[in-house]
Amino acid sequence: MKSTILQALDQVRPERLPVWFMRQAGRSLPEYRKLRRGTTMLDSCLIPEMAAEITLQPVRRHDVDAAIFFSDIMIPLRLAGVDVEIQPGVGPVLENPIRTRAEVEKLPAPTFEDASMITAALKIIRDELSAHKALLGFAGAPFTLAAYMVEGRPSKDHLRARALMYADPKTWDQLMTWAAKVSNLFLKVQVDAGADAVQLFDSWAGSLSRNSYVSHVLPYSKMTLEGVAGPRIHFGTNTAPFLDAMAEVGVNAIGVDHRTPLDEAAKLVPGLTLQGNIDPAMLFAGEDALHGHALDVIQRGQRAPAHIVNLGHGVPKDADPGVLTELVAFIHSLTPEQLNAEHEGVSI
Ligand code: CP3
Repeated sequence: MKSTILQALDQVRPERLPVWFMRQAGRSLPEYRKLRRGTTMLDSCLIPEMAAEITLQPVRRHDVDAAIFFSDIMIPLRLAGVDVEIQPGVGPVLENPIRTRAEVEKLPAPTFEDASMITAALKIIRDELSAHKALLGFAGAPFTLAAYMVEGRPSKDHLRARALMYADPKTWDQLMTWAAKVSNLFLKVQVDAGADAVQLFDSWAGSLSRNSYVSHVLPYSKMTLEGVAGPRIHFGTNTAPFLDAMAEVGVNAIGVDHRTPLDEAAKLVPGLTLQGNIDPAMLFAGEDALHGHALDVIQRGQRAPAHIVNLGHGVPKDADPGVLTELVAFIHSLTPEQLNAEHEGVSI
């Protein structure tokens, strides 16, 4: 029997509504913080036993229907030999930002010297994970990677990256092709080692207009998925103006942030499974508000061929893990009558 997530990715509505959370592995869990003590974020991704254990922690604790591989969108850069760190409380930081043609040309070849630790971690997870749960791999889409590579650190509007895109299309092409190649390799390593499906994260694509997305970004996201076997999920935030374009990379499901109601999203990407889109803020709003909102999300999600419940973005670091565990139990307990009732949930 296929896991409920894989059924949903085949556009089949499983008997029980599937649920997992972006960033379920990590900071919100005390067992994660304890294990990580003394090891940097990116180093912890490269120690197979540690990455496997952190991947499995939220599955054991919350009974979510998928494990997402504990890693980071910046790991392929590290594996290719780029000097990158995740600074606590800051995020990805590159020692040398890539802003000029000369800097793009000096990038190492987009290949991995050694990805055996990724393979080893996934094999441990595959052995321990129940067959009823899906194992998800992932990678960053080239625009989100380029946003960090050009800026050198997190930024609000990715101004420098967007300026490079307009100023020097040839350098932009070289940079985006490089990013697509390393993320493509990262996805292939994960699928070869047992990932059942993959998610492409284009978290910052929402800073682009539809036209810019379609002409300067979409072709490279397509390139990232070339030759990657198995089902795919494509996720971004603030991307309502071009959700249909995001579907063109060839995907089974579209991830939707909390800003677009799922019944509206279903009209934009007909025939595709939807994933999302509980507002992470609702985790802090009390059980009544959270349940009312989750029910509304789920009832609107009935307009799609299938629905994988998730948050609209990652689990915030100060979220109460108990609230997540209870939310999973609530979602798993819903009856077909509750799923199909109209206007019972509370709209935001
Ligand atoms: O549980 C999971 O979802 C799997 C692991 C995972 C991480 N990062 C672990 C992580 C996944 C899928 C990612 C993807 C990722 N990484 C994205 C796309 C998803 C998104 O949230 O939009 C992005 C943009 C990154 C880059 C990145 N890495 C950022 C912005 C940060 C946070 C910086 C901060 O401190 O606020 C990281 C660090 C990171 N990646 C942590 C985790 C658990 C926190 C590390 C820690 O301090 O313990």
